[in-house]
Amino acid sequence: MAFVHFEDVRKVYHMGDVDVCALDGMTFDIERGELCVIVGPSGAGKTTLLNMLGGMDRPTSGVIELGGRQVSDLDDRGLTLYRRNDIGFVFQFYNLVQNLTALENVELASQICPDPLPSAEALAAVGLEGRLDNFPAQLSGGEQQRVAIARAIAKNPKLLLCDEPTGALDYRTGKQILALLQDTCRATGRTVAIVTHNSAFTQVADRVIHVREGRATSVSTNPSPAPASSVEW
Ligand SMILES: Nc1ncnc2c1ncn2[C@@H]1O[C@H](COP(=O)(O)OP(=O)(O)O)[C@@H](O)[C@H]1O
Ligand SMILES: [Mg+2]
Repeated sequence: MAFVHFEDVRKVYHMGDVDVCALDGMTFDIERGELCVIVGPSGAGKTTLLNMLGGMDRPTSGVIELGGRQVSDLDDRGLTLYRRNDIGFVFQFYNLVQNLTALENVELASQICPDPLPSAEALAAVGLEGRLDNFPAQLSGGEQQRVAIARAIAKNPKLLLCDEPTGALDYRTGKQILALLQDTCRATGRTVAIVTHNSAFTQVADRVIHVREGRATSVSTNPSPAPASSVEW
């Protein structure tokens, strides 16, 4: 059984009289330790699938499993613990708490987890050992995203989910963040899923999932992924 298993997952949002089918029978697997890039145009259902996998919402139907455990039938309490203990999230706009320092932002997330990494260590791993006491407003966009990655990693999650993690960053900084995510996957063996509309990112992935109109239209593995530093877009 694959580490991440999505089987015929549907998600329908009800908007008044209108039903929006965001996921329309999505099926794919991701193996443990892989860097997986999920790519598709805006509106394809990428954020929706990440939210289902991250336990932020439940699918309308279908099966989602992580590490052999069924996520799609957890109750509210089960989903809360799953989000807290098993998943690290990185968002496009960082979502840091503005009146807490970098170190405090990381501590805030990791202190509710059963098996966290030391916060200062997580920040050192993303190259911010000298910026522990800075507030988000004192950091560049790329540095703030590094704090967000440290915050996610410090939870010691089974799975790191990143939704357009370079979407708010300039080209060079975006490339550095992609390299950091690739290094994190390689160095720790952690499974990392990155959602993007940028098809250049597929070059660095072990596994590439193309999504379109709520379905996985192709799933392929890449025997020799490129280092992020060498990828151009
Ligand atoms: N909470 C929601 N309520 C209603 N419709 C939604 C909601 N979230 C997403 N959608 C719709 O589902 C489709 C897929 O959206 P999304 O998963 O955000 O795509 P992507 O991240 O690939 O751009 C879109 O048509 C979007 O408008
Ligand atoms: Mg999205």
